[in-house]
Amino acid sequence: MPVSLVILAAGQGTRMNSDLPKVLHKVAGAPMLHHAMQAGASLAPERVVVVAGHGAEAVSKAARAWDEACTVVVQAEQLGTGHAVAQARTALEGAAGDCVVLYGDTPFIRPETLEAMLEARARHAVVVLGFEARDPGRYGRLIAQGEALERIVEFKDATEAERAITLCNSGVICAGTETLFSLVAALGNDNAAGEYYLTDIVELARKRGLSAGVVTCPEAETMGVNTRAQLAEAEAAFQARARAEALDIGVTLTAPETVFFALDTHIGRDAIIGPHVVFGPGVTIESGAEIKAYCHLEGCHVSRGADVGPFARLRPGAELAEFVHVGNFVEIKNAILDEGVKVGHLSYIGDANVGEATNIGAGTVTCNYDGVMKHRTRIGKRAFIGSDTMLVAPVSVGDEAMTGSGSTITEDVPAGAVALGRAKQVNKPGLAVKLFERLRAIKAAKGKA
Ligand code: UD1
Ligand code: CA
Repeated sequence: MPVSLVILAAGQGTRMNSDLPKVLHKVAGAPMLHHAMQAGASLAPERVVVVAGHGAEAVSKAARAWDEACTVVVQAEQLGTGHAVAQARTALEGAAGDCVVLYGDTPFIRPETLEAMLEARARHAVVVLGFEARDPGRYGRLIAQGEALERIVEFKDATEAERAITLCNSGVICAGTETLFSLVAALGNDNAAGEYYLTDIVELARKRGLSAGVVTCPEAETMGVNTRAQLAEAEAAFQARARAEALDIGVTLTAPETVFFALDTHIGRDAIIGPHVVFGPGVTIESGAEIKAYCHLEGCHVSRGADVGPFARLRPGAELAEFVHVGNFVEIKNAILDEGVKVGHLSYIGDANVGEATNIGAGTVTCNYDGVMKHRTRIGKRAFIGSDTMLVAPVSVGDEAMTGSGSTITEDVPAGAVALGRAKQVNKPGLAVKLFERLRAIKAAKGKA
């Protein structure tokens, strides 16, 4: 059965106290919207509609960055969750099968839970995802008998007895696409908030003789973010889960509570991650690689047997082949390091290709930026770059070539050559002795004055 998704993301998120639309605040390096879209993507939806409102342009851009094919519709005025869903009607015209409604500010719904909801559709026209709340607060309450759902009552409209119910509405709803839009079209706004509540479709469905049902999930999944404090809680919850998952699949984390993952971090079995390592978006670490303490990585790929750090920074486009060694205080950006390359200490390698088994001496810098444009440095195989070499790009160093320590290389170095780009050394016998004497005399004279 085909599935479509509607993701509600129009709200301002007043309590975030922010210029940024709420759904663009990040958890694990990715906007919350991407978390919701990723959960929904597990259902392989035919169509995805994001309902934007506050900051629609930025929300739209973020939505398309995750899924080029999604449709963004704008809800100009936020008249309620039911009204928001109604905005997706045209975009879903003629879509067969089911429609799942997700919230852009609820990042942790698991694919398995969505699957369970679709399964429950075999028994019910409308399926609502509920959870047992430790503190039900202002959530909508589910009036249900077992799996059968009678109606949902919003906190504001609930009686004391209804407020005592702890089975709450997560917000995720699933129904046949046609049924959903027919129900949403019939919604009124005669309630305490004066809003078109999506939740009222349950009662409407029952009145039409359709059945509604509840599927439940752990409260941790339904966690919604309304404040910065909840954003921080969401981050902590994500990290706790990511650490546990990494350990589970056979990654060694020396101090798990100090390692931070992104939504899309991939780490292979038997990789070793030391304390205080931060993974930004887009990192893949293959099996058996080691990332030592205090490294920051993003947009990079570290192959099997490579080791990085301590105190290294891998930036987007850093591609480390097998058995590459990147040591302390080294920064790599947009550079391909072939098998066995060593960059041990205090270096910047940016916009570069480095051939296999080449050794880059301490303090080497690829001078990739001329103040206006970026240029590439190409270094061949089994080359030796002396310590403190400045490689002024665009420049290339051939296979098995060498550069002398302290060289500034501005011209291509042929294969097998040694390049010396520094002033020739001159020794002045005895001059140091005289210099010391003179300087000490000056100091002594000053002391007397
Ligand atoms: C909603 C539910 C409530 C549930 C709770 C779970 C309704 C009426 N109530 O309440 O039963 O327990 O979520 O978190 O549905 N949005 C729009 N346009 C609008 C209004 C909201 O896009 O006009 C979006 C928001 O950006 C947000 C989501 O819908 O992503 C939920 O809206 P919110 O106002 O937070 O709903 P709650 O009052 O929390
Ligand atoms: Ca909310």
